[in-house]
Amino acid sequence: MADDNPSDQLVIKASVAEESPGNGYDDECRRIKPSDPCAIIIYGASGDLTSRKLIPAIYKLYINSYMPGSFFIVGCARKKLDNKSFREKIKASLNKEGLVDQVKWEAFAANLYYQSIEYDEAAGFEVLKRVLDDLDKKYRTGGNRLFYLAIPPFLYETVVNMTGQSGLGAAKAESGGWSRIVVEKPFGSDLKSSVALNNILQQSFKEHQIYRIDHYLAKETVQNILVFRFANSIFEPLWNRQFIEYIDIRATETLGVEHRAGYYEKAGVLRDMFQNHMMQLLTLTAMEPPAHFQPESVRDEKAKLIQSIRPFNSETRKQNIVLGQYGAGMIDGKRVPAYREEAAVNPRSFTPTFVIMKLFIDNWRWQGVPFYMLTGKRLAEKLTRIVIQFKDVPHAIFRNVFSKGIIANRLIFSIQPNEKISLTFQAKNPGSTICARSINMQFSYDDYQEQALEAYEKVLIDCLNGDQMLFLRQDSEELCWSLLTPLIEDCEKCADQGELLKFYEAGTCGPKLIETPAKC
Ligand code: BG6
Repeated sequence: MADDNPSDQLVIKASVAEESPGNGYDDECRRIKPSDPCAIIIYGASGDLTSRKLIPAIYKLYINSYMPGSFFIVGCARKKLDNKSFREKIKASLNKEGLVDQVKWEAFAANLYYQSIEYDEAAGFEVLKRVLDDLDKKYRTGGNRLFYLAIPPFLYETVVNMTGQSGLGAAKAESGGWSRIVVEKPFGSDLKSSVALNNILQQSFKEHQIYRIDHYLAKETVQNILVFRFANSIFEPLWNRQFIEYIDIRATETLGVEHRAGYYEKAGVLRDMFQNHMMQLLTLTAMEPPAHFQPESVRDEKAKLIQSIRPFNSETRKQNIVLGQYGAGMIDGKRVPAYREEAAVNPRSFTPTFVIMKLFIDNWRWQGVPFYMLTGKRLAEKLTRIVIQFKDVPHAIFRNVFSKGIIANRLIFSIQPNEKISLTFQAKNPGSTICARSINMQFSYDDYQEQALEAYEKVLIDCLNGDQMLFLRQDSEELCWSLLTPLIEDCEKCADQGELLKFYEAGTCGPKLIETPAKC
């Protein structure tokens, strides 16, 4: 694959078209502000996710006037705290991010409450119910409640059951209020546990009340894949086996396992990144056009796509999948330890931190087109992108004219570190001779920063608005697991597990790859 942006490439920047209404930013483009007054109940309120992601996101929505006119938040956790110390703890973590605006903070903090709870004791949930009922009246929230599971997955079953059994989760019929539950990944660790988790959730909540989050779906460029594909007429006719040579989807990280060894040792890269983020990028890139831009239509097409992925057998697994684990190496000029040397990692661990897969989709559109999917930790750079590589021109009339040959067209959705879309094509260089130059036409979200919401802000707005478009549905979730579970089991139980796993030096491109056109 040619470089993203070779130095001889001319870059043309996209600008908003003149005919775009309101120069592209009329009221229609603004986010829909949630209007229902509501309560947000966060289980796991003393944890990392709450202080690093959730509260900063809610606070930013609040100061940018995206929160409903009336709302309150009740943080729940085992730790014994009162409202005052909870507010101070939250303020300290917002301060770290430089987010606190003193005046707005006071008003925001008045809506923050804390209730300590033992997750396995019904009595605590009874108390919580009374607290919520009182606050519902004070804030006139009409029983609208969003429950957020910011707790470790092993607590999901207990907390969901307690919430259901204590009647906390039921929408209050007389007020027409709603209740919704937000679940963070991992949604199980294989097909069986995912089915079990769904059964537990569905004992207390209906599918339309369950919001399974994948934060990749809230990234602007990821959402833009749908608009790009289905709001333009010129790309979709090319989006198939006739014109596309291969698709390369990758999410590489420089970070290692950090302080998450307890979780990661059991998860590994297939559960941590592949089953969710990578599969979502694949479905949006390859799914058929939905009949409507509505959650169920989009989610139906995603499920159909997952069903069309060719399953692996023991032969294709050997040929088309490489798993790896990072060794020691250099990242950003600093020496970093091997995965096996990280705190709390088994020194003989076989947990994979890298995978590349060559997938095929057995349907009319994609028959024979390889999808290269690569993700891993401690690689050379932080990069998430989708490359659509078009085929060479069918007949090369310039074969004897250009010394370098013709570079086939390429479309790149760059998701991280910069969010942009670029299309390369060939054009004549100015001058008396005929020679070609690669032109890169580029649209970058950096030029529209003020419009962007962070992933958790977007996710929360959608939950409060009851929009499930970006959230995973039970069937897709289970379909992903049915594809990957045999593979995971095969890799984990296999006697020659050591041989299946290739070790790579941190800060490099990963282990020697299966035959792929993509460079590092
Ligand atoms: C998380 C994984 O879901 O995504 C992490 O658990 C990974 O292991 C992270 O580092 C990557 O997210 P992002 O948005 O930084 O690409």
